[in-house]
Amino acid sequence: MSADTKPRLVVGISGASGAVIGVRLLAALRRIGTHETHLIVSASGAVTAAQELGITRNDLETLADVVHNVRDVGASIASGSFVTSGMVIAPCSMKTLAAVANGFADNLLTRAADVMLKERRRLVLVARETPLNLAHLRNMTLATEMGAIVMPPVPAFYAHPKTIEDVVDHTVGRILDLFSIEHREIARRWNGLAEEFGTRRNEGADE
Ligand SMILES: Cc1cc2nc3c(=O)[nH]c(=O)nc-3n(C[C@H](O)[C@H](O)[C@H](O)COP(=O)(O)O)c2cc1C
Repeated sequence: MSADTKPRLVVGISGASGAVIGVRLLAALRRIGTHETHLIVSASGAVTAAQELGITRNDLETLADVVHNVRDVGASIASGSFVTSGMVIAPCSMKTLAAVANGFADNLLTRAADVMLKERRRLVLVARETPLNLAHLRNMTLATEMGAIVMPPVPAFYAHPKTIEDVVDHTVGRILDLFSIEHREIARRWNGLAEEFGTRRNEGADE
């Protein structure tokens, strides 16, 4: 597939804790290679990436195919006429969540998300904060009512993670699932408690 014909996926990184999620997501998308990635990093997203991972904005931006300036509200992805498969904001701060939930498109990150909602495209918000106040909860409800998927990066202990990368990759795998992007190697899948309950597949059953 040439870069011209690949579907486009917009990836936003805002200033919530968990910059590593955005980084590992972009790295996975590059490995998988099915999508052209369009990246927007907010000013605070660059700050958290530096604080948490010791990396620069430039380091982040080399992971994407196309990089947009968060102040460029006239970029291609600011228009619904620029066709994309959707957008994920990972991690998504409560401030960016509030802007998305209330249609306050004051920068390219929130404008691109606004476009996803108006065009009824997939928008996944990896919203990270704890504990949550009523504004956070209400904004999650508003975003969900408009069609966004609010997906807090919650660890799955049933997957027996051994490292932080295991925990992060589980979230990355679930994000990719939401866009139907194949990722066999990234996260182990839950296949049920077959041992305890004796689930079996009969011969001739569809794979
Ligand atoms: C190290 C660090 C960690 C932060 N973690 C969070 C967080 O987990 N969730 C959150 O909503 N805001 C967090 N913040 C605050 C946001 O960065 C801040 O509200 C900022 O205005 C968000 O802007 P943005 O949404 O444009 O990126 C954090 C800030 C710093 C510096």
